[in-house]
Amino acid sequence: MYSRRSSEIDPFTVMQLLHRAQEFEAQGRRVVHFEVGEPDFTTAPPIIEAGIEALRSGQTKYTAAQGIQPLREKISAYYRDQGLDVPISRIQITSGASGGLVLLAGLLLDPGDRMLITDPGYPCNKVFARLAGADTKAIALSAQRGFELMLADVESAWEAQDRGILLASPANPTGTMLAASTLSEISKWVAGRDGFVILDEIYQGLVHDDAPYTSGLAVSDDLFVLNSFSKFFGMTGWRLGWVVLPENATERFTKLAQNLVISPSSIAQNAALEAFSEESMSVHRQRASEFSRRAKQLAAGLLELGFAIPVMPAGAFYLYVDVAHTGIPSDEFCWRLIEEYQVAVTPGKDFGDFESDRFVRFAYTTDIASIDLGLERIGQALAAWGISR
Ligand SMILES: Cc1ncc(COP(=O)(O)O)c(C=O)c1O
Repeated sequence: MYSRRSSEIDPFTVMQLLHRAQEFEAQGRRVVHFEVGEPDFTTAPPIIEAGIEALRSGQTKYTAAQGIQPLREKISAYYRDQGLDVPISRIQITSGASGGLVLLAGLLLDPGDRMLITDPGYPCNKVFARLAGADTKAIALSAQRGFELMLADVESAWEAQDRGILLASPANPTGTMLAASTLSEISKWVAGRDGFVILDEIYQGLVHDDAPYTSGLAVSDDLFVLNSFSKFFGMTGWRLGWVVLPENATERFTKLAQNLVISPSSIAQNAALEAFSEESMSVHRQRASEFSRRAKQLAAGLLELGFAIPVMPAGAFYLYVDVAHTGIPSDEFCWRLIEEYQVAVTPGKDFGDFESDRFVRFAYTTDIASIDLGLERIGQALAAWGISR
């Protein structure tokens, strides 16, 4: 009765770990959460107020499939502040980056096609392709090379059935950023094969040390850029994002959106009009710098405990940590940590197969006091398990 495609989807260990964490919490135990990839902060107050006002003033109807014009204008202005000219005709509001990915898969992939992705990478990407009947091939990114992707990797992975590649910057789970020069080389090479490049920028704005961050749109107007209100803007539950398309793709994309989702949430869109105000932006920026502070604290503590962090992330809110010195495969490491010490971290296998046994992802979406408690418990675990630094 059920489709073959639906049976091919792997369950996430992170959800099973979260479930276990919640069981401990139901028993009154304190769990330290490093597993969940969503900001612990609630949405900035001006956005919440705008959402309430949208409801009160009756903004409860379908909108245009592309999204409401004022929000598209604000996004265009957001790019203008980065020195980029992105007309609103190229900006389409979606139901989260996830909604954008469904529509992009429908726009760009046919059954039998293949799309290149990275390993490690965001695990859902292969499912979006699969839903369109396409396959994915993962390019392995090694820790020794700083999880860096190079044009040569794309050249050697590319085969006749490949239609394009999906990249992310900053990336989940490694927090690495793609150099503009690499993006430029890859996008030119792929364009030469009539292929597409999707660039997932949903962690845009969450960069450490005030590093300047300009969208990959500075490199090429041919990219399909995904963005979201979930992470930097702290609006995961509102389910709102956007896609920037090459001009010649917008009509088809709109038709898909009209048919598949009709429109993104009118309430969320009206709330998001406040996301770019000076008041909200200063809340977002302050939270981004809090993430940087946490990254430093957590990284220092883990290094002290003998873990290796092959790449200090440039952005997002994750550390991809090597647990090889424990001699425990990462999946077992995560389960023992939650069962014995109530610390939840995500095993590498949720992000791919390549060297995943030796990596775990820490999300520092929890406050400094919890980070310290987590480090203390991990220290106790290593001592109890007889693991030296
Ligand atoms: C790399 C990446 N892309 C896309 C998403 C989906 O985000 P959303 O649908 O909330 O915008 C996530 C969520 O964690 C992510 O990490």
